Amino acid sequence: MFNLLVIGGAGYIGSHMVKQLLEADYHVVVLDDLSTGFENAITAENARLIIGDVGDRALLDLLFSTEKFDGVLHFASLIQVGESVAQPARYYRSNVAKTLTLLEAMVEHGVGPLIFSSTAAVFGEPEYSPIDEAHRQAPINPYGASKFMVERMLEDFDRAYGLKSVALRYFNAAGADPEGRIGERHDPETHLIPLALHAVLGARPPLKVFGRDYSTPDGTCVRDYIHVTDLAEAHLRALEYLWAGNPTARFNLGNGNGFSVQEVMDAVERVTGQPVPHENAPRRTGDPAHLVADSRAAKSTLGWNPRYADIDTIVAHAWAWEQKRVRLR
Ligand code: UFG
Repeated sequence: MFNLLVIGGAGYIGSHMVKQLLEADYHVVVLDDLSTGFENAITAENARLIIGDVGDRALLDLLFSTEKFDGVLHFASLIQVGESVAQPARYYRSNVAKTLTLLEAMVEHGVGPLIFSSTAAVFGEPEYSPIDEAHRQAPINPYGASKFMVERMLEDFDRAYGLKSVALRYFNAAGADPEGRIGERHDPETHLIPLALHAVLGARPPLKVFGRDYSTPDGTCVRDYIHVTDLAEAHLRALEYLWAGNPTARFNLGNGNGFSVQEVMDAVERVTGQPVPHENAPRRTGDPAHLVADSRAAKSTLGWNPRYADIDTIVAHAWAWEQKRVRLR
């Protein structure tokens, strides 16, 4: 049975990955320091959780010398663009330095391959749309730069040490486990869909619409929302791709459909049957007007096939999860 190490497996995307891996009969060890993840996001009893830091070299040495892994999936990272501008040191420490420690340990212990969580933010301000893998990488904030630096390290580590990897650039991860067992939980929450749903539930103040004066059809920002279960699926396909002996690569993951903030609010209204309490607010610093992925390479090369591309389905799964969370409180 294949044994996989999932770093950051108690977080939003990582926990959906763990669920999917266990359903596909993989053996899973989760390494998570629980700084932003939640222990109870790992629902299955057969996933072993090690509470620890990916930057702890002694812990990695112990883990890699006592257990054999067929692959590593690295989700653990800080993800807030605004925070990264204010506290770049934290971002470079967590996202770059700790990942370097992981890569060194993997090389030394002969562990691989690696699937790395990257982001649309590695591209910066789009020069054309949809964004394919050939698009120039010019990140405009420390968060995007930190992921870009790791992507660069991955290329160099392959060339010098033969460490095989796939970097997956997520566009806007959204939705929740279709079975409703897990979902999105960030503290603080900054993402559009959960904030809109919380506003509907009255659990938070009205949603602030950050800017209505963008050069988009309705003036609000356009994003490519991709279901978290589809994202997890892409990781499995990427592992299979590397196990088959294919080269180190990077793929953009989205649906290729852009939805504006207003269109997401309309979807929330259709799904919940209630209007989204909202107010107009100034633009948020660092938000590009339009971010949409060209994922043809992931589809053709990895055989990835997103199942929940419809925005109402994505919102419906998120809504089911939020209602469950309210009942659990
Ligand atoms: N938005 C609002 N009001 C809110 C929150 C968001 O209007 O309260 C708008 C944003 O301005 C943006 C859109 O909704 O136009 C989506 O915002 P999110 O914060 O949900 O997502 P981002 O596109 O900003 O972020 C995504 C990932 C981040 C990643 C970033 C990189 O979720 O983790 O892409 O570009 F860093």
